[in-house]
Amino acid sequence: MKVAVIGQGYVGLTVASYAAEFNVVVGFDNNQTLVSQLNQGHSHIEGVTSESLNKLLAKGKYIASNNGQDLSDVDVVIIAVPTPLSTSRNPDLTYLESACKTIGENIKKPVLIINESTSFPGTLRTFIKPKVEAYSKSVLEHQYAISPERVDPGRTDFNQKNTPRLFAGLTREASERTRDFYSAFCYNLVEVSSPEVAEAAKLFENTFRQVNIALVNEFAQISHALGISVYETLDAANTKPYGFMKFTPSAGVGGHCIPVDPTYLAAVAEEHGAPATFIRRANEVNIEMSKYVVDRIAADNGGSLQGKSVLVVGVAYKPDVADVRETAAELVIKHLRDLGAVVSWHDDVVKEWKGEKSSPLMGADITVVVTKHSEVDPKLILASAPYVFDTTGQIKGATGL
Ligand SMILES: NC(=O)c1ccc[n+]([C@@H]2O[C@H](COP(=O)([O-])OP(=O)(O)OC[C@H]3O[C@@H](n4cnc5c(N)ncnc54)[C@H](O)[C@@H]3O)[C@@H](O)[C@H]2O)c1
Repeated sequence: MKVAVIGQGYVGLTVASYAAEFNVVVGFDNNQTLVSQLNQGHSHIEGVTSESLNKLLAKGKYIASNNGQDLSDVDVVIIAVPTPLSTSRNPDLTYLESACKTIGENIKKPVLIINESTSFPGTLRTFIKPKVEAYSKSVLEHQYAISPERVDPGRTDFNQKNTPRLFAGLTREASERTRDFYSAFCYNLVEVSSPEVAEAAKLFENTFRQVNIALVNEFAQISHALGISVYETLDAANTKPYGFMKFTPSAGVGGHCIPVDPTYLAAVAEEHGAPATFIRRANEVNIEMSKYVVDRIAADNGGSLQGKSVLVVGVAYKPDVADVRETAAELVIKHLRDLGAVVSWHDDVVKEWKGEKSSPLMGADITVVVTKHSEVDPKLILASAPYVFDTTGQIKGATGL
C-alpha cells in the first residue's frame, strides 16, 4: 500500500518508519526545512535513527514531501499533527483543520483516514470527517478511524510493536482496514466500540498521570512542612504490593501531552456541563510547583536571590530527550529572574534554546536540577555550586524536595 503520514514529528516520523517496512510511505510535512533534512537522511527525533531512515530512503520505501500532489494516489492517510492549547488555554484544532484541508484538496479517491493526533471525544466524527468533506471538491466515500498514539519519546523497552494500540472506525469497514494496516507492525491491537471511547481513553491515560503527579507534588510540600522525607515516605508506601502506584515529585510537568491533553478533557467536560475540578486543580498544582521550588531556594539562601548566579541543570522536559515543549524549566527560570537572579542553564542534549546556549556545569552560586539526563555526572553537579537544589531526587547530598 501507499501510505501518507501528515506531520513528521515525534509521532508521525515514528509511525512512518514502522509503516515503511511494509508499505511505501510519504512523510508529509509543511515544514520545508524538515522535509529537506529528512530526505537527506537526517532524523530529528530520538526514536528513529538516521541510519534506519537512510535505509528506508535508499530502498525507496520512504520519502518526505510538502507537495500535496504526492498524496494523490495513497491508500491510507495518517494524521499526526500538533493539537496544542490556544493562548486562552482551550483546544486549538487549527493544525488538524489544515491537515484536513491538505487531505480534502489533494486526495482524489476513497482512502482510509486514521487520526493519531490527540483530541477530545467526537473529534473524528464531528470535526475531521466534516472538514475533509468540506475541503474535497468531489464526493468521496472515505473510511475514518482513530488510533491514538502512545509513544513515549526516548523509551526503548516499549515501542510500536509491543505497546497495545487502541483503535475504532466510524464504520465496520474502517475498523477492519485499520486492524489490517497496524497488524503488520503492532502485535496487540485493541478494538473499542466507538472512536469516542478511544479518544477519551487517550485523554484519561494522560489525565491519570497529570492528577497523580500533582498529588505527589502537593505531598512533597506536605512532607517538607512535616519535616519528613518525601522519597522515603513514597518508598515506604510503595512496599504495598497492590493498590498503590508510585509517582515522584518534580518542578512541574512538561512535554506535549501531560500539561495539554487533560485540558482537552476538561474543556469537553465543561461544555457538556460535567465537572472537571480535579483536572483543573491538578494543572494549577503542577504549574505552581516551579514557584514553590524557587521560594524554597530563596528561603535557604537568606531570603533573596538578587544578583546571585543560578545555574539550571536540564531544560528538556524529561531525561535523555531534546524536547523543551512546556518544560518546567521555563517557569523555574522565569521565577528566578523575577527575584533578581542571574540565570544560565546547562543542557548539552538541548544545546540551544530561546536564543541562549548551554553553559558549562560549573561556577554558580546556586545550582537547580530540573531534569537529570543520564550523561550528566552527579559529582559534577554537586561541584558546580556551594548550594545545589535537586528536584529530581537523584543527586545524593543535594538539598531537595
Ligand atoms: N510527542 C509525543 O510523545 C506524543 C505522544 C502521543 C500523542 N501525541 C500527539 O500526537 C500529535 C503530534 O504530536 P508530535 O509530538 O508528533 O508533534 P510534533 O510537533 O513533534 O510534530 C508535528 C509535525 O506536524 C507538522 N505539521 C503541523 N501542521 C501540519 C500540516 N497541516 N500539514 C503537515 N504537517 C504539519 C509540523 O511541522 C511538525 O513537524 C499531537 O496531537 C500530540 O498530542 C504526541
